[in-house]
Amino acid sequence: MPKHVAIIMDGNGRWARQKGKIRTFGHKAGVDAVREAVKYARKNGIQALTLFAFSSENWKRPAEEVNVLMELFNLVLNSEVKRLNKNGVRLKVIGDTRRFDTKLVEKIAKAELLTAANDALTLNIAANYGGRWDIVDAARQLAEDVAEGVLQPSDIDESTFDNHTSLASLPDLDLLIRTGGEHRISNFLLWQCAYAEFYFTDVLWPDFNESTFAAAVKDYAERQRRFGLTGEQVVTN
Ligand code: IPE
Ligand code: IPE
Ligand code: MG
Repeated sequence: MPKHVAIIMDGNGRWARQKGKIRTFGHKAGVDAVREAVKYARKNGIQALTLFAFSSENWKRPAEEVNVLMELFNLVLNSEVKRLNKNGVRLKVIGDTRRFDTKLVEKIAKAELLTAANDALTLNIAANYGGRWDIVDAARQLAEDVAEGVLQPSDIDESTFDNHTSLASLPDLDLLIRTGGEHRISNFLLWQCAYAEFYFTDVLWPDFNESTFAAAVKDYAERQRRFGLTGEQVVTN
């Protein structure tokens, strides 16, 4: 079982179009798939699930679509947080949330505070997230520490750097799933993908369910992760 799984939840728009509906219909349907993914992760002892909900580039979409996505985020926080908390899920939003309206920012902070002590599953929602932003943000925090004289540049190593990225203190990313058929990273977890296994599926996000998740995990379990070693070294270790 992977300890940490991330998912690029892609294909909502195409799913809706295939049904002759407008794109936002697909985003609404995608919420059920999020529930399925969280349920699977909880039931199978996955420690962290990181979902790409809105990228820093998604602001460039038509304003109407962006508005629906923000509204949906708001509604989902209203309707799901209580249950997540009851199920022992710790909720975290990663990304540059300063761009959201203050009500939403407050709601996020409240949900994070309420669930902070839960340890059944950490659910990270990446919203206004970009992998490059995450790296630059860590660099900026380190630069501030250096400027304040609390950190020496020579003390910066991979582990110090990692501690300033948005998934610090969670297990390393084991498996990255992308639905919707594209084979790209779209500025998701660039730093964290160093040794993650990738799994691509043509399934469109609203059709994702526990069996799609199980198929990805099965594929992952059959791989040999070598981390630079030879296959023989891994077998004898
Ligand atoms: C993913 O689905 C959801 C978000 C990016 C918010 P898309 O909206 O990208 O769906 P497609 O890729 O256009 O089908
Ligand atoms: C990636 O999907 C972002 C999310 C799933 C939130 P996109 O649909 O934005 O990615 P591109 O534009 O096809 O690379
Ligand atoms: Mg897309």
